[in-house]
Amino acid sequence: MRMLPPFKLEGDVLLVLDQRVLPKRVIYRRARDAFSTARIVKKMVVRGAPMISIVAAYGLYLQSLRNPKRMWEGWSALKNSRPTAVNLHNVLREVKPLIEGGAQPPEFLEFARYVEGREREINERMAEIGLGFFKGPSTVLTYCNTGMWATPYPGTALGVIRRAFGEGFVKKVFVPETAPYMQGARLTAYELRLEGIPYSVVPDNHTGFLMERGMVDIVVVGADRITRDAYVFNKIGTLTIALAAKRFGVPFVVVAPSTTFSDEEFSEKIPVEKREDLPREDYEYYAFDITPPDLITAIVSERGVWKP
Ligand code: MRU
Repeated sequence: MRMLPPFKLEGDVLLVLDQRVLPKRVIYRRARDAFSTARIVKKMVVRGAPMISIVAAYGLYLQSLRNPKRMWEGWSALKNSRPTAVNLHNVLREVKPLIEGGAQPPEFLEFARYVEGREREINERMAEIGLGFFKGPSTVLTYCNTGMWATPYPGTALGVIRRAFGEGFVKKVFVPETAPYMQGARLTAYELRLEGIPYSVVPDNHTGFLMERGMVDIVVVGADRITRDAYVFNKIGTLTIALAAKRFGVPFVVVAPSTTFSDEEFSEKIPVEKREDLPREDYEYYAFDITPPDLITAIVSERGVWKP
């Protein structure tokens, strides 16, 4: 087992780790401009709210190298690739002045490196703050994948869990499979095993039972969008976990960078992604659900702890 970089910039090509086939196969897909970057984001080659935004920033750099006349078209292709996770949309808003000003490739590269470095620093800081929720050796339940491929190492929720393990506060981690992409069973399990953190993968339908049995001391999850009034959009299934956590008195902690926050209040107009790449024609599959503030014990960002 090894640490695999989520992407590698090699000259004018971005090699992006195909997270759909990990850990069985290690394949890097090529992105050559913003359009091919948008395609691999849409297809879930790369996923995880912060990582999508980082890769998009590099995609715009490639676009500036290859065909700067089509910057806005490339920007729009990225904008349409995944609607819910807000980091992408925040970064696309941030980069606008560069495109408007006709910036040159080195400036886009600098921007992409800045976006990447910022997330890395934030994650280190959140790991430190999140540690405060661990009072003694605990069994943790997390969800989906919030580690080194969803965002820079050490991750958001997984960064907190790693840090807590390092301090002797994690006895074990329960990892729901996260169907149908199995980000938990494939990615989170890989990362925990890599670092010797004890864990069990469980089918998604086990979470309520585990809490009812008193087998979970704390839930720590990530987020893809957090509204001004503390509604948390995260991988579908999170809401069910939060409901059970409330019912059985288990702290429910969300860990997400400020780049996952959006200015708007919750509204049903916020797009919730519905996937088209279904395992079978008779399936219907949403990518995210929304956890309301009254189910949330705390939201940890690099700015501190918010108790909604
Ligand atoms: O559909 P995905 O895999 O891009 O889902 C996003 C996630 O990885 C999770 O929802 C995660 O908790 C937030 S991203 C660190």
